[in-house]
Amino acid sequence: MKQILEDIRVLDFSHVWFGPYCTMMLGELGAEVIKVEPPWGEIGRLGPGPLFKNVASNFYALNINKKDIAIDLKAPEGLEIAKDLVKCSDVVVQNMVPGAMEKLGLGYDALKSLNPRIIYAALSGFGQYGPYRDYASYAVIAEAMSGHTFATGKNFNPDGPPINMAGALGDLGPAVFAAFSIVSAIRYRDKTGKGQMIDVSQLDCMASFNTCVTTEYSLFGETTAEIRKRQPRDPNRIWGIMKVKDGWIQVAGERPKAIEKLKEKLGVQDLNRQDLEQIVAEMTRREAFEFLVSVGMPVAPIYEAYESMSDPHLKARDMFVQVNHPIAGTYTTPNFPVKMSETPGIVENPAPILGQHTEEVLTSILGYSKEKIEKLEKSGIIVCHRN
Ligand SMILES: CC(C)(COP(=O)(O)OP(=O)(O)OC[C@H]1O[C@@H](n2cnc3c(N)ncnc32)[C@H](O)[C@@H]1OP(=O)(O)O)[C@@H](O)C(=O)NCCC(=O)NCCS
Repeated sequence: MKQILEDIRVLDFSHVWFGPYCTMMLGELGAEVIKVEPPWGEIGRLGPGPLFKNVASNFYALNINKKDIAIDLKAPEGLEIAKDLVKCSDVVVQNMVPGAMEKLGLGYDALKSLNPRIIYAALSGFGQYGPYRDYASYAVIAEAMSGHTFATGKNFNPDGPPINMAGALGDLGPAVFAAFSIVSAIRYRDKTGKGQMIDVSQLDCMASFNTCVTTEYSLFGETTAEIRKRQPRDPNRIWGIMKVKDGWIQVAGERPKAIEKLKEKLGVQDLNRQDLEQIVAEMTRREAFEFLVSVGMPVAPIYEAYESMSDPHLKARDMFVQVNHPIAGTYTTPNFPVKMSETPGIVENPAPILGQHTEEVLTSILGYSKEKIEKLEKSGIIVCHRN
């Protein structure tokens, strides 16, 4: 066995970031991911973000290792293709607003009757039940309602306004929960032969990231900001962002033995944050990093994301790889981040062109004839990209 999910076929009806990041993780673990797009392309092909060769740069990032078929699911013949594929797939993933897949005839109950072994992951903002179930969502919505937007703002200024988190963690975090749950459901199916329905809500997942503040609030009956006011942190604590000659470093001096070693190295009895700030202000980012690392201090240069791409440690761990796209050319993308000794994650193929594998999938998996494919193509129900 080369990869743990190499015998798993995923039918991926997802769009934008949340669903695509989940299925990309499955694809990097070896699953055959067949992305099903409308003939006009999923909404994430055109944004958000700048277009490169007429496709959003984010699309190239979020659809690694996938095949792509373009089918109009609102046409009866298009729906038939999807149902035929469900019969020979292991997992379905979708992140349409709840009810949209059911309207198409592709809800869990319908697909379970076609394939009782199917694992069906319905990803959404608020879940498949509950008062807000029908509401549309993006990362910022879940971040706002779970408290993260306020927490980010208050971390910066306890009396200030909310601030959006960067990086769409309200999509990518829940996507990892979704992938993790799908792999768990595969384990259950391996043992019992039964599929299952997986209901992943962005809001639930973002609320679960509040594990510490939830417990803190329940134990003390106060918010983190109220507790901080009552018990201010020691301002001399060796902690936080410090300015250096050419940028910034992050210091997390919650390690007594590192602080003792630092004092020894500096030949001082006492050391507070201000003292350290003065010392590192005379150093470059690299010098400060190396100096503090030498005493065992948890410390980091503060990078912009593009700088981390050339960091020697990340390079040594092969964290960035290149893929070659027939239209966009060669581009760099993060590797699967976890190193597994027996069944590694692998980044192999760039994001697909719309309909790049329609013909291949319909021929090799469903055994459709050339004539049938041509007829579907002429009527606009499918799109086949040919080189
Ligand atoms: C992201 C979101 C706001 C986008 O809204 P939207 O573009 O209006 O899409 P919806 O999910 O409401 O509906 C998808 C539509 O495309 C249609 N569609 C999808 N694939 C299709 C295909 N291959 N062929 C034909 N139609 C297709 C669906 O049938 C549906 O049509 P309808 O509006 O007539 O019911 C919404 O999908 C959503 O809230 N999803 C859940 C949360 C989420 O994942 N957010 C994104 C985070 S990155």
